[in-house]
Amino acid sequence: TAKQTFYTQEIKRLLVERNAALVAHYYTDPEIQALTEETGGFISDSLEMARYGRDCDAQTLIVAGVKFMGETAKILSPEKTVLMPTLEATCSLDLGCPIDQFSAFCDEHPDHTVVVYANTSAAVKARADWVVTSSIALEIVDHLDAQGKKIIWGPDRHLGAYIAKQTGADMLMWQGECIVHDEFSAKALRDMKHLHPDAAVLVHPESPASVVEMADAVGSTSQLIKASQDLPNEKFIVATDRGIFYKMQQLAPNKTFLEAPTGGNGATCKSCAHCPWMAMNGLKAIYDALNDGSGHEIHVADDLREKALIPLNRMLDFSA
Ligand code: 13P
Ligand code: SF4
Repeated sequence: TAKQTFYTQEIKRLLVERNAALVAHYYTDPEIQALTEETGGFISDSLEMARYGRDCDAQTLIVAGVKFMGETAKILSPEKTVLMPTLEATCSLDLGCPIDQFSAFCDEHPDHTVVVYANTSAAVKARADWVVTSSIALEIVDHLDAQGKKIIWGPDRHLGAYIAKQTGADMLMWQGECIVHDEFSAKALRDMKHLHPDAAVLVHPESPASVVEMADAVGSTSQLIKASQDLPNEKFIVATDRGIFYKMQQLAPNKTFLEAPTGGNGATCKSCAHCPWMAMNGLKAIYDALNDGSGHEIHVADDLREKALIPLNRMLDFSA
């Protein structure tokens, strides 16, 4: 539409004018990912978004994703201006892990190493020994387990259960979940597999264990995209946010990608395989952020920033 063309052109102009780069997550809407590609920005999983934001030359980052991704970018690059299309884009894992309660939980188990998922506030990261994303969580927990460490894990209970099962590590779990992945249903998936017996099943480990058990490949967004290219199947049933189809289809145009079923139906499921907060990253919001940054800029208090930087750097160094 004329409006979309206007926003796209203005965004391109403002990105150059402000020496800014768009950094987007695979769950953002197709038009946002296309714009990111057209403007020479970067699309990836949460681990590589963090690394790119830190290493790129741009003075300003526009992070199209959810708030923890903007905060991570700011913690790693305090000298950069970090803008977000909207500061309202949060995450159910972040909301379900308030710092006071989480910190009290950690205080009860002082002999445990605190490992938190990147999908948390800066304050929760500041309380942690390690930050992990789904790309690297398994390796880091395995490494800690080999050193005989007992672990506090938060906040995603499904990812935590998957890692505990794979590594055998001693993990105390915070009981949080992602509202998108928690809705995938093993029963409905079994029915769907009968209809598509030749399809491979790709599952993000934020999904319930019963769904993960049915997977041909389990992994972070980037790992699932790689599996969709590497596996010989022509058809895939994908249990993660449907935003990922943009990149999967682009990299394998002849393959067929189907959404894994949720337990509800269109009328009753809360998120229907698309994160409501990721969906807030529209063209107008990006334009507004670039045009007048006030109300879009991420700030992290210095004391929190310095503390949160330590476990974040541990993760980036470990995965370098
Ligand atoms: P990845 O780290 O696999 O990209 O997933 C993070 C996530 O769930 C963002 O919502
Ligand atoms: Fe959080 Fe789930 Fe949305 Fe990712 S998809 S941002 S984990 S609510």
